[in-house]
Amino acid sequence: MRTQVAIIGSGPSGLLLGRLLTQAGIDSIILDRVDAAYILERVRAGVLEEGTVRMLEEAGVAERMRREGLPHSGFDLTFDGRRHRIDLESLTGGKKVMVYGQTEVTHDLLDQRARDGATSIYNAEDVQPHDFDGEKPYVTYRTDGVTHRIDCDFIIGCDGYHGPSRKAVPENAIKLFEKVYPFGWLGILADVKPVSHELIYANHPRGFALCSMRSLTRSRYYVQCSLDDKVEDWSDERFWDELRRRLPQEVADGLTTGPSFEKSIAPLRSFVAEPMRFGRLFLVGDAAHIVPPTGAKGLNLAVSDVHYVMEGLREHYLEKSEAALDAYSTRALARVWKAVRFSWWMTTMMHRFDDTGPFGQRIQEAELDYLVHSQAASASLAENYVGLPY
Ligand code: FAD
Ligand code: DHB
Repeated sequence: MRTQVAIIGSGPSGLLLGRLLTQAGIDSIILDRVDAAYILERVRAGVLEEGTVRMLEEAGVAERMRREGLPHSGFDLTFDGRRHRIDLESLTGGKKVMVYGQTEVTHDLLDQRARDGATSIYNAEDVQPHDFDGEKPYVTYRTDGVTHRIDCDFIIGCDGYHGPSRKAVPENAIKLFEKVYPFGWLGILADVKPVSHELIYANHPRGFALCSMRSLTRSRYYVQCSLDDKVEDWSDERFWDELRRRLPQEVADGLTTGPSFEKSIAPLRSFVAEPMRFGRLFLVGDAAHIVPPTGAKGLNLAVSDVHYVMEGLREHYLEKSEAALDAYSTRALARVWKAVRFSWWMTTMMHRFDDTGPFGQRIQEAELDYLVHSQAASASLAENYVGLPY
């Protein structure tokens, strides 16, 4: 088999890149180790930056998001029993974010790929990129015990943190940066009315909490938990009790509870691989970087990477120029590190760290008090939250 661009990974970044390539008349094959149904089961991000919304519009897959997504012009920060609104719109000269689940984005992209009639290979085992340091890279994979080969011009690794693309790079050609946080997030989905019409990020001595949503009737809530915790340790009742305790009284009193239908624990880490290009192999999204979810940046960063790599591929095929491909890693990493910094800062300010004790708690409360009363500090938070330009 031959294609122009082989994409490893059928998550949001692989699917969006595939769609943009189709629009530009460039041929691609997407490979994933699982099938589309499994990919749609994964509950992940919920907040889209304006740049992400624009990219989905350019890709022609924004119709349902425009109909069902919830534009948000602010969010609340709570700490020390108080509640403050960060008015994103007024602090950024009119920018907003869109609350629309990653599952829905992926769904829309999968539907579009089917309409495009473009090739995707699911349940592909042992996917491996080869010879990307030369002119003739190829990918091998196995289905039903048979090994197949796809020759291509470029391999794009959109295969997440655990995928084979980054791992195929020789150790001496890649530099890894990592910070692991000593806690996780326990998240639930429940068909109950959200406690507020906007998101609430809560700092509390017992730990962080986040009130989010997927629709006006579906809530997504998170509480900071121990890395030793298991989902089975958390009955719905225990979850709701803990969430209530971490919210100011007036918010807790308005919380509607009900049975959860999804519950999972995610560890928090910051991770960056440099560079993001190795000859004809390009890393995109979680394959190259992970951020803790506090700043709602993971999915949005994957989309900005797609923007930069697509510019490179478009110029290569349509203008016969290598300039944008050559600039990919530098341009993407400049934006990545700013989001890594923002996510680390939000995480540090909002979570309970056992080793800093009551002193650390007071420092966080002082920082939050400064943040919500300083126009300059609020504007900086808002500017980063809605997403830096690209
Ligand atoms: P992924 O979505 O990870 O897609 C990678 C694809 O590659 C997958 O389909 C996978 O099956 C495929 N793949 C993996 N290995 C192989 C292989 N060997 N062969 C072939 N294919 C392979 N971000 C937020 O902003 N907010 C959140 O609340 C949030 N929660 C998260 C919770 C969890 C548990 C995780 C893991 C991530 C979360 N994120 C969150 C991050 C966000 O979901 C990611 O940044 C986003 O999914 C990145 O998209 P991607 O396309 O780069 O990678
Ligand atoms: C959601 C997740 C986040 O990490 C975040 O910062 C905001 C919202 C969510 O899943 O809705």
